[in-house]
Order: sequence, then structure tokens, then C-alpha cells
Amino acid sequence: MNAPCPATPRAAHSTVTETHVITTQGLTKVYRSRGREVTALDGVDLHVREGEVYGVIGQSGAGKSSLIRCVNLLERPTSGTVTVAGQDLTALAGRGPRAGKQLREARSRIGMVFQHFNLLSSRTVQDNIELPLEILGKSGKERSAKALELLDLVGLSDKAKAYPAQLSGGQKQRVGIARALAGDPKVLLSDEATSALDPETTRSILQLLRDLNQQLGLTVLLITHEMDVVKTVCDSAALMEHGQIIESGTVSELLATPGSELASALFPVSGDATGADRTVIDVTFHGESATQPVISQLSRTYNIDISILGAAMDTVAGKQVGRMRIELPGRYEDNVVPVGFLREQGLQVEIQGPQGESAPVLQKEGVTK
Ligand SMILES: Nc1ncnc2c1ncn2[C@@H]1O[C@H](COP(=O)(O)OP(=O)(O)OP(=O)(O)O)[C@@H](O)[C@H]1O
Ligand SMILES: [Mg+2]
Repeated sequence: MNAPCPATPRAAHSTVTETHVITTQGLTKVYRSRGREVTALDGVDLHVREGEVYGVIGQSGAGKSSLIRCVNLLERPTSGTVTVAGQDLTALAGRGPRAGKQLREARSRIGMVFQHFNLLSSRTVQDNIELPLEILGKSGKERSAKALELLDLVGLSDKAKAYPAQLSGGQKQRVGIARALAGDPKVLLSDEATSALDPETTRSILQLLRDLNQQLGLTVLLITHEMDVVKTVCDSAALMEHGQIIESGTVSELLATPGSELASALFPVSGDATGADRTVIDVTFHGESATQPVISQLSRTYNIDISILGAAMDTVAGKQVGRMRIELPGRYEDNVVPVGFLREQGLQVEIQGPQGESAPVLQKEGVTK
């Protein structure tokens, strides 16, 4: 297993100045079946801020679904606590379908979106959306007014009377999202909501989640195995491995953390050294530094030839970020001063080992596309 990244910005999250709408502390989940034990969650501390889109990424079996199912107490954690919107859900009685009244009420304020939509095929779109409101005992008039309002919000006003089988995958997921919003939740949980969709539909669903996040101030916790999803919509992200969160932070904090696996996976640059006795450096530019001519300054100040091995510019979490892999002549010992110069310009600088030692593990193991 990889050691936690030393400069992981998780510590910054534990300060009390921010409002966390979802907090888990020491969350563990051990499944026991036929005498076997599987530890799916192993001490997870998750802190999701109010109004953010938070992505949890990790390989199959890392414990992502277990985490999200523990957050809304569909699964009862083996130990640890889950607090959503100030309420300690683990203190409420019952589990799964046998949840007590208080837990059911708390759960109705947490929307959940599923990979395979989970719509009832015998009910119309509108009736699917009304279902959670029926369970809450709302009147027919209230239910239909809410369902129509939500259909409008997700762009399906003309499909109220259609049946799920008559809809495309993207439309079904819009219904799934509308249903999740029926109880006016403060938080929306999404487990691989776009995994069954093609890339274009994925983009439109992610855009919808982003719009809902911004229009309704909805906090979104989403599980995904696709880096692109994190890149497109997430303000913060966590990387899970073997039931633990091994890195977490806002996307900009992660990008500014040397050695961050998530940052390298979000923003890969490649390119091999052109020979021995060369220093290969990854330089990350954010915000203002992106517009400064630092590379030409470096070249002029120290009179060195710089080769660009690879470069990429992209928008991550709505901000322009650039990354460049450059090569300087000579070993690292010969380049301490130029490297110091780059750092002084406020750039994030990572020295690559001879075999690209800090190449991201995620990529090697095929999580990213
Ligand atoms: N109900 C269950 N009973 C027993 N073991 C389970 C149960 N649910 C999950 N597990 C095990 O717990 C571990 C974590 O599973 P989980 O479904 O949380 O992973 P995941 O990260 O969501 O994976 P994927 O990306 O494939 O959906 C796995 O080893 C899995 O086999
Ligand atoms: Mg899963």
C-alpha cells in the first residue's frame, strides 16, 4: 500500500472554521458472511464542506460504495460516526429497511442517485418522482406540484407521463436525480451515476449536477472511478485504497501538493529524459503564474538550454492550470540554483527520478482512462 502523502492537505480540513455538512469519523465497515470477514472501510475520516462537489475515487473494491452506503446508513457502520447536516445518524436506531422513524426522516433529506437508475418500470416518470413523497405522506396535490417542478428543473417537463422504458439512459438518470431531490435534500449522494452512460450524456449529467449544486446550494458527494468526472465537476476529492482515504483535499490544494497521486492522475504529464546527466522537472502553473514568462527568464538568467518534454493546459475545478515537464542539462546537484529560482517564482516544482519515480500509481494500475 502507498504511504499517505506527507503533505496531504487533510489536516487543513480538520480546522473548525469551515462548515462540514458530511463528516465521518473513524468509520469502519466489516462485512461478515459465511465465517469470512471483509474489511471494506478501515477508519475513514471524511469531511465534505457545505456547497461543494466532492469526489471519491479509487479502484474496484476500494470501499467507495460501502462509504456512500454508510453515509446514509443504508449500511450500518461497524464502528465510527456519520454526521450529516449536524445530525449524528449513527446515534439513530435501525438499519436498512428496518430504520426507525427518525433515521427514515433523516435519510429522506439525503438524496441518492444510482448507477442503474433504480426506477420502477410500472410507474410513469412522474409517479417515480412522487414515490419518496408518498412515503413521507404528502398529499396528492403537493406531490404532483413538486414532481412537475423537479421535472422542469432536470429538463424533462414533457416526459411526466412516459414510462422508464421509453426514455434514454441520460433521461432515466435525470428522473433518478429528480426523485433524489423530492425531499429537498441538503446533500446528494451519487454512486457512479454516469458509469452506464456514453461520454456526451455523461457530460450533460455532470453539468446538471453542477447546476443543481450552484442553483440549490446542494452539496454533492459523488463516487466515481473516472478521473475525468473529478476534473469536470469536483471542488474536492479523496483517493481511496483498501478501505482508507490515502489523500484528500480541494483540487487546488491537491495540485499544489508535491507527490500527490491524485494531482498527477488529474493532470498527467509525460516525457522521458533525453539522456543521462539530465534533470527532469515537472512544473505546475496556477492562476497568475500561468501568465509569467518564467521559463525564458530561467533560461536567460542562468544561461541554460531548457527542453520541454511534455506540457498540458487544462481547466481543473473551473481554474486554468498548466503543467510542463522540462529538462535541464546536468544532474540535480548542478541545478539546485535554477530549481530554487523556479520555486521563488511561486511555481510548484517536482523533480522526477531517473525512471520517473513519481509517476502516478493510479495510472500504472489503470484507474485513469
Ligand atoms: N454486502 C457485502 N458483503 C460482503 N462483502 C462486501 C459487501 N459489499 C461489499 N463487500 C466487499 O467490500 C469491499 C469493498 O466493496 P465496495 O463495493 O465498497 O467497493 P467499491 O470501491 O465500490 O468497488 P466498485 O468500484 O467495484 O464498485 C470489497 O472487497 C467487496 O467485495
Ligand atoms: Mg461501488
